[in-house]
Parts: sequence; C-alpha cells; structure tokens
Amino acid sequence: MPVITNIDDLHAIYKRRVPKMFYDYCESGSWTEQTFRDNESDFAEIRLRQRVAVDMEGRSTRSTMIGREVAMPVALAPVGLTGMQHADGEILAAKAAEKFGVPFTLSTMSICSIEDVAARTKAPFWFQLYVMKDEEFVDNLIGRAKAAGCDALVLTLDLQILGQRHKDLKNGLSAPPKLTPATIANLLTKVGWGLEMSKTTRRTFGNIVGHAKGVTDTSSLSSWTAEQFDPRLDWSKIARIKEKWGGKLILKGILDAEDAKMALQVGADAIIVSNHGGRQLDGALSSIRMLPAIMEAVGSEIEVHMDGGIRSGQDVLKALALGARGTYIGRAFIYGLGARGQQGVEEALEVIRKELDTTMALCGEKHVHDLGPHNLLVPKGFAGDWDRVERNA
Ligand SMILES: Cc1cc2nc3c(=O)[nH]c(=O)nc-3n(C[C@H](O)[C@H](O)[C@H](O)COP(=O)(O)O)c2cc1C
Repeated sequence: MPVITNIDDLHAIYKRRVPKMFYDYCESGSWTEQTFRDNESDFAEIRLRQRVAVDMEGRSTRSTMIGREVAMPVALAPVGLTGMQHADGEILAAKAAEKFGVPFTLSTMSICSIEDVAARTKAPFWFQLYVMKDEEFVDNLIGRAKAAGCDALVLTLDLQILGQRHKDLKNGLSAPPKLTPATIANLLTKVGWGLEMSKTTRRTFGNIVGHAKGVTDTSSLSSWTAEQFDPRLDWSKIARIKEKWGGKLILKGILDAEDAKMALQVGADAIIVSNHGGRQLDGALSSIRMLPAIMEAVGSEIEVHMDGGIRSGQDVLKALALGARGTYIGRAFIYGLGARGQQGVEEALEVIRKELDTTMALCGEKHVHDLGPHNLLVPKGFAGDWDRVERNA
C-alpha cells in the first residue's frame, strides 16, 4: 500500500478506484467551474507569517464547534451519494469521524439512511436538511433526525434550484448507475469498487425511498428531486423549521454579509460561509475571500464556520486565522473514502491534523484559539477589491 503523505495521494487512488460517473460528480463545479477553482486557488494567495524562538511545546488543535468538543475544528461536510463513492460510505465516514473526534454531517441525499448511520455509530452526528415542498416529508425527516439523536440540524440554503454540472448530465448520473454500454465498460475496470458494492444492499437514497410519497423506486427519484426542492424557501420558512427542530441550528450556504445578518436575526447558532463547493452559483466569490466581510458583519455575535476548497491543514489554519470557529471538508474526505474506505477518511483527517499542528508550530502558535490575522500575509485588497455595482440614484 502506498504511503499517504497528503490529500493528493488519496485523490490519485480515488480517481483510479471509483466509477467515472461518481468521480465526475465529486470533482465538478457548475458551468465554467470558476468558483470551484477559486475556492482552492484563493487559499494559495494567502501566505503565512513565520515566527521563531517561541516555545512550541504543549500544542493543541482541540476546540469546540457549537459547544461540541472537537479534536480539531474540522467537520465532515454533508455530501450526497457518499455511499456510491464506497459501499456503505456514510456509515464508514461517520465511524472515522467518531474515532477521530470530529462531527460527521449526514446529507438528506445520502445512500445510508439516518437510522442506518445511527445504528452503527455512538457519537451523535449532524443532519443536513434540504427543504422540500412536501412539508410532511420535511417534518418527518426532522423527527427522524431527532429520534436518531442528531445534535445539530444543518439547513442548506443555496440549493433550492440545482446548478448545472455538465458532466452529470452527460454521464447520466444516477444511484445506482444505469447500465449503458459506456457505464458497463467503465464499471468493468472498477473491480474493487464493484466487489464492495455487491456486498451491500444500500444503493439508493436511503432517506427518501420508502419514506416520501410516490417514491418507491429510484427511477422516479431524479424527477422527484427536481420537482420537490421548495423554490419558496424564505426566512419565515427557516424560522418555522428552527421551531420545529428545537435544537442547535446551523445555516449553510451563506456568502453575503446581508444574509449573515438575517441568519443572526432568525436565531441560528452558527452559519457556514459556503458556496456549495462551487457547485451552485458559478461566478460567486470563493468562501475564503468572503469570510472577512462576513466576520466583520456578524463575527462577534454568531459562530461562523466555513467550507470550500480546503485540501490541507494549512488551509484550515488560514480560515481559522481569518476568524472562522470551525471548518468543513467535503471532497478531501471523499477522496479518502473512495480510495480506502474508513481508513482513508481517517488518513485524510490525520494528514490535515498534522499539517495544521506543524504549521501552527512554525507560525509560533500553540493553540488554534490563538490564531488570528497576525499569522497571515494577505494580498492587499484580498477581501475588499470587489465592489458591488450599486444602482445609480
Ligand atoms: C459530491 C458532493 C456532493 C455534495 N452534496 C451536498 C449535499 O447533499 N448537501 C449539502 O448541503 N452540501 C453538499 N455538498 C457541498 C458540501 O457540503 C461542501 O459545502 C463542499 O463540498 C465544500 O467544498 P470542498 O468540497 O471544496 O471541501 C456536496 C459537495 C460535493 C463535492
């Protein structure tokens, strides 16, 4: 087995092992993929301030996210179809997160159901909710998440209409994959993936099939999702969901200071500065570039988390230094999962922890809480050189 020293190593194995349809699903952004690319490349624009002769013994990456103790402030982001990247993927990723001491977030569009994950893990996980038109179904999902002991609801706000990813349309993305000559030819080269998949019965959307009215098989599912996401979602509906849930609420997909202020008003416990990994509004600015403005608007009043483009512990450090209390990884853990199952997710987390810890030491810091803008060298105008064009009076 090759030695894993960074996230790219896991990515290389992942690419070889997983069917093209699911690799492309993960590795794409919407339309031109500008935002998808910027999420990563903007991190590289920020540099680090080296400090020396500072006692570096007794360092710690431990922190809390919405009051929950975490081994490092890096949670696993909700990722739909995770159980297609590796058989029983959500269960394996949740186990890895539990072992490592970080939160796992289960997507509404997962393959393993809420109950599947709850039955195979001890640590509470977070449930990510998409708001559907069918209120009864949404209320049921909330009830199921409560019954499973989920200790936070992550409400995603940036996907009421689906951003177009060209490859998904061209590949005919589905779960399980539809057998066409092209998919069969590709699946024949993915023997390890196929063997694991043949041992599980979890191959379609576990939270939905058998729970939502009119959805008994997967063939009707794609049209159902297109029709069912609620285009009328607004702040009053968010308030209703908050009340119905009654627990900790994290609002995901905030990319503008005005929306961050609304999140504060509605009483959320945290927000995630996010553009859905560049999969929704192509042309939006990267999450890391928007973080400072959002921190300035609400940072002293609400916990601010971020995701998008994190591929290393150095990226995590940069986000924390710009004020985020917590971060999430999406693709970085999927690479590990697709490459090596639960072990791969643990390896991804360990790579990031080690990079974060070593970088902290070389920046002269002992604790993640002490990180701040003083650790960074940020290009002039990094956060402020984009003006909104205000309408002339
Ligand atoms: C393949 C894939 C599927 C995703 N599915 C969901 C989802 O079901 N719900 C959700 O809120 N976000 C979803 N996201 C977005 C992630 O939660 C997260 O915002 C994003 O992956 C962060 O960017 P990164 O992948 O660069 O770390 C998905 C992302 C990817 C890559």
